[in-house]
Amino acid sequence: MNVLVVNGPNLRRLGTREPEKYGTTTHEELAALVTAWGADAGLDVEVRQSDDEADLVHWMHEAVDSGAHVILNPAAFTHYSYALRDACALVTAAGLTLVEVHLTNPQAREEFRHTSVISGVATGTIAGLGIDSYRLALEAVARRVG
Ligand code: DQA
Repeated sequence: MNVLVVNGPNLRRLGTREPEKYGTTTHEELAALVTAWGADAGLDVEVRQSDDEADLVHWMHEAVDSGAHVILNPAAFTHYSYALRDACALVTAAGLTLVEVHLTNPQAREEFRHTSVISGVATGTIAGLGIDSYRLALEAVARRVG
């Protein structure tokens, strides 16, 4: 694995969760697409999902230890998890790329979603483009790692 794609809480419910906002692609389908897009771009991708903040923190540590780049949809943790922010900071401090992605555009939604505690330590953010946010993030990682 050289790219770890991590989806946070409630994203396992993709496909049936507020499809008017998040689309009808299931998490399983998204994982298959992301893996295939990564392979096309020459990347070895692993996709994981958890509702548990500790898992996400530990996976950032694992990325640092294994030298994996990260594409992260922190979901609701985006807005308040300082623990995840600190773990993401370790990834970018290690010289690895971390792209924050969102299916929706949080800036165009409720006010509490306007704050991302992750963005300040991410390499960059791609939001609002549905599952294409992940495709573009993979492209960005592929370009950066050459
Ligand atoms: C999300 C946006 C977050 O505000 C929300 O809590 C999510 C999904 C997105 O992909 O658009 O769970 O990260």
